[in-house]
Amino acid sequence: MDQESITIIDNRTDAQYHIPLFKGCVRAADLRQIKVQTEDFGMMTYDPAFMNTASCQSSITYIDGEKGILRYRGYPIEELAQNCTFLEVAYLILNGELPNSAELQEWIDRVKHHTMIHETTKKFLEGFRYDAHPMGMVISTVAALSTVYPECRDVTDRETRRKEITRLIAKMPTICAYAYRHHFGLPYIYPDNDLSFTENFMNMMWKMVEPKYVANKTLARALDILFILHADHEQNCSTNTMRAVGSSLADPYVSVAAAAAALSGPLHGGANEEVLRMLDEIGTKDNIPAFIKHVKDGKGKLMGFGHRVYKNYDPRARIIKWTADQVFKVTGRNAKLEIAIELERIALEDEYFVKRKLYPNVDFYSGIIYQAMGFRPDLFTVLFSIPRVVGWLAQWEEMLEDHEQKIARPRQIYTGHDERHFVPMDKRGTGQPAQAVAQA
Ligand code: CMC
Repeated sequence: MDQESITIIDNRTDAQYHIPLFKGCVRAADLRQIKVQTEDFGMMTYDPAFMNTASCQSSITYIDGEKGILRYRGYPIEELAQNCTFLEVAYLILNGELPNSAELQEWIDRVKHHTMIHETTKKFLEGFRYDAHPMGMVISTVAALSTVYPECRDVTDRETRRKEITRLIAKMPTICAYAYRHHFGLPYIYPDNDLSFTENFMNMMWKMVEPKYVANKTLARALDILFILHADHEQNCSTNTMRAVGSSLADPYVSVAAAAAALSGPLHGGANEEVLRMLDEIGTKDNIPAFIKHVKDGKGKLMGFGHRVYKNYDPRARIIKWTADQVFKVTGRNAKLEIAIELERIALEDEYFVKRKLYPNVDFYSGIIYQAMGFRPDLFTVLFSIPRVVGWLAQWEEMLEDHEQKIARPRQIYTGHDERHFVPMDKRGTGQPAQAVAQA
């Protein structure tokens, strides 16, 4: 018998099944042969929230959550953060290999060529109320780009896909900066192609009346590192959304908008904004023990802690702490950092967090750095979305080129009523099952 297989005995029927393994996994469809009656549908797997289900094969990002390892295309995140620029890493994630210098230059030029947004898209942004949350503006504006580039619907054509991928990566910082400036009624600043990816973004965010805005090099590099850390993270909630929406062959703009919507939730990319809110609520170090008790009593979460995959220190959080030191040398230390460090120290010694393997994740310190750099908390998730677009698009393209993939369509275990018959309005009660009224 094939060693790479398992044998299942169905105790209901005493039947034996030899199930081949694929890369150490059971293919769920192979379980369908397990039936009691021949007319049965066959066995399914039940896995709410995908706790133990691989939905795809991917060669982009590797995570070992127990050991705290993260690699893009095989390269450790620490080495990439130390040695690369964000656009270099974006090229790696999209193409599988690091670019040589000519390839990198060509890629940078291509991105720069697409940084402007159509003037009608600017008008679209102007339609939002002054106090609109920037994440809502970004999600809607990215979706609206689908109408500006109708050719994007040809998702099966690689050349078209590549063009839309470049457009999306190039335009995200512009849209995000415009969403910010809209809030303050500031004029929009056009992209400046003399600048690097992050310097250009900072210029579009903060340029006022000075003839040339000069970004602080340390802060621009810190932002570049933060973008590298956020570029991809395998099958997280937003990436899974990107793949699911894209699997219907929806265009990349509406698919990215859907992924960004998933990112905006407080359990995912919205956590960085929540961390700042939490630190504000705690206020001083003296209040930390009471806050920890509040969390342990089940009355709230320690935002920026815990992860579905990491059961060890999130390697990104370690790099972010190092980056914070560089940023604070420029901006001065932020009082919130002291509270965060103490909160982390106390939590990591507390049995509640130790037992559940809850460690700081990427969102725990990123917000503190962003705030020190001058970003408002409601922009933090927007900052997460700029680099994550790279991961979403790489995973989307991988899904489209994977011949095993089809439209995403999970099964369910139905728990509702058996068939019952229509009850006319005058026979229906309030708050009572309609069937009971009908029988009365
Ligand atoms: N504070 C307090 N308790 C927690 C926390 C937390 N942050 N996270 C998990 N737990 C507890 C949870 O209550 C459960 O306890 P019990 O076993 O007694 O019921 C146990 O730890 C296991 O948690 P879970 O909810 O089953 O874990 P999950 O894998 O479903 O959730 C998570 C992962 C990230 C949603 C969760 O840890 C969380 O809500 N963290 C806070 C939000 C956050 O920081 N999110 C950012 C995630 S990383 C970046 C990103 O993806 O965007």
